[in-house]
Amino acid sequence: MAGKLITLEGIDGSGKSTQMRMLAGELRLRGIDILATQEPGGTPLGRRLRGAFLETEEQVDPRAELLLFAADRAQHVNLLIKPAIAEGKIVISDRYADATLAYQGAGRGFPKEVVLDVIKLATDGLKPDLTIFFDLPVERALSRANDSDSDSRTTNRMDFETSEFYTRVRKEYLSIAENEPERFRVIDGDRSVEEIHHDVVDLVTRFIGQDESGRPPSAATKA
Ligand code: ADP
Ligand code: TYD
Repeated sequence: MAGKLITLEGIDGSGKSTQMRMLAGELRLRGIDILATQEPGGTPLGRRLRGAFLETEEQVDPRAELLLFAADRAQHVNLLIKPAIAEGKIVISDRYADATLAYQGAGRGFPKEVVLDVIKLATDGLKPDLTIFFDLPVERALSRANDSDSDSRTTNRMDFETSEFYTRVRKEYLSIAENEPERFRVIDGDRSVEEIHHDVVDLVTRFIGQDESGRPPSAATKA
């Protein structure tokens, strides 16, 4: 199977991480060789960066923030994602470059050309083959994120942004969806975990060419 990059995006609390865990589990059950990873913090260096600039109460300059997400991504792409794709793996990343367009571009207000240049430098032009965007109203996502703060989730600086900030972020994601409908698929995230999981598995297995039984379509026809 040819390696591919699939990314999951959404505002905080949209349910990405929950769906990532369930999707990874299902694909592994079907014997598909995947690498499940995340940004920021997909590599040891990235985890140290994440702690330093995201899980801190220290004020972080927006330029530093933009470049630190880029540094995390450069390490992630070049040391982990590209080698895995070259080995034929399906790489699934909980967030990738679209998050920088949405959060640092629309959210913080950096000009799009600047953000695109920084992304190009960090990724060396590697684009996702498929992106799944979990969409739901900002207030719904924020109330989920706040409810979950007491359990497994680590609170980070971005969790203290305003709903206006997240509204700009969501709008930017929806605008990417409009401009790149082939790559960027919008899933209604305001449903039960199981309903969403069903759609995600359907989308991803179709995309990578595996039918419900886990066999590639050609093998399924011959069987
Ligand atoms: P994200 O990674 O997008 O921030 P999470 O997967 O961590 O989101 O989910 C945030 C919170 O919402 C968690 O407490 C999770 O259990 C809960 N959650 C996730 N999906 C749903 C859903 N479809 N309906 C209700 N609650 C959900
Ligand atoms: P995380 O705890 O991973 O949140 P989530 O589970 O919601 O993905 O925190 C990552 C935070 O960093 C999240 O608020 C989104 C933000 N972020 C950016 O602002 N720019 C980026 O390029 C990336 C990858 C993430």
